[in-house]
Amino acid sequence: MSDPTTTRTYGLTASEISNLGEKATAAKSLAYCPYSDFRVGCALLCEDGEVVLGANIENASYPVTICAERTAFSKAIVEGRKRFRAVGVCTDISPPASPCGMCRQFIREFCDLNTPIFMWDKDGQYVVMPLEKLLPMSFGPEQLRKPDPASK
Ligand code: THU
Repeated sequence: MSDPTTTRTYGLTASEISNLGEKATAAKSLAYCPYSDFRVGCALLCEDGEVVLGANIENASYPVTICAERTAFSKAIVEGRKRFRAVGVCTDISPPASPCGMCRQFIREFCDLNTPIFMWDKDGQYVVMPLEKLLPMSFGPEQLRKPDPASK
């Protein structure tokens, strides 16, 4: 259950948060991870209210693996969804895992620094923090041009 501070801080309802957690948890079953056996599910709450799922997809050539977060964002972007209200990630461990460095930078491209990143553990408990805390002093699109998330 989410506390009132979390809902207030991030402008989300308790049911939006619990729905995101359920979707991220369910997304773990989509993982293709025969090598690590480490399932990661991701759910993105898009600005239009849609929730887009992702999961990790491994490869016999290990570095070719795609993380759950980048799978989910890639799906959303090519569906025309480029603005996000929250990111949810779920694994089978506790305390919860956080997005890897490459994924943090990938997320940075499409999310405001105050976007909440929810990290659920195997028992349905979460830790949440804004992207800025996971990726301090980050490099992003506005360093190269005017920020325009809707740009192609
Ligand atoms: N993994 C993710 O999907 N997201 C992360 O942020 C960290 C790692 C996946 C990649 C690989 O399939 C497995 O977890 C073990 O590294």
